[in-house]
Amino acid sequence: MTERTVVLIKPDGVKRGIVGQIISRFENVGLKIAAMKMIWIDKDFAAKHYPVSRKQWVESIGKRALETYKEYGRDLGEDLDTMEPYEIGKKMCKWLVEFLTSGPVVAILLEGENSINTVRKIVGHTFGDKAVPGTIRGDFTKARGYASFMSKRAGHNLVHASGNSEEAEFEEELWFKKNEIYSYKRLDEEMYLG
Ligand code: TYD
Repeated sequence: MTERTVVLIKPDGVKRGIVGQIISRFENVGLKIAAMKMIWIDKDFAAKHYPVSRKQWVESIGKRALETYKEYGRDLGEDLDTMEPYEIGKKMCKWLVEFLTSGPVVAILLEGENSINTVRKIVGHTFGDKAVPGTIRGDFTKARGYASFMSKRAGHNLVHASGNSEEAEFEEELWFKKNEIYSYKRLDEEMYLG
């Protein structure tokens, strides 16, 4: 099924000068760039991308943080003053907003069969030290999962990619106006549909 998904090259990817290398990974597998722009967003906009009102998601990133800490044999209570997943998630949203507004980002709308899953695979595990070589995060970052909490900031992991179709639809509408999205055929399109 052809679907669209949103990728953001976060400020660390832009500042490291690896925008081209990141984009080429998606182009190489045949994903089509339906829209793309560089934009320096403000905190209100970033808070829409990471909404604390999406309680389930906020809680889930808090839970993931707790699990990560356990895996490394560390105590999250020592670095943050709470062990409550939702509270941890809320703090993380604040850091994520700070990070996403710390420089320009490149927002890309990618289109292709099963694109949401494909992009997640290309991007790799959230943390550089866990991401396998060949993935964007595995090749360009080595950040450990707990390291960011020690300095009270979001993990710098180069890329955001929509997690599922609901997120993809929401993010497409948030980041792109209808007249910024283009419909065209890639030369290799027939090959992949064959
Ligand atoms: P999440 O959606 O779980 O990861 P992914 O980006 O791989 O889909 O988390 C959103 C972002 O929150 C993630 O890109 C980086 C940050 N984050 C941390 O900094 N530390 C953490 O322990 C977790 C779980 C996420």
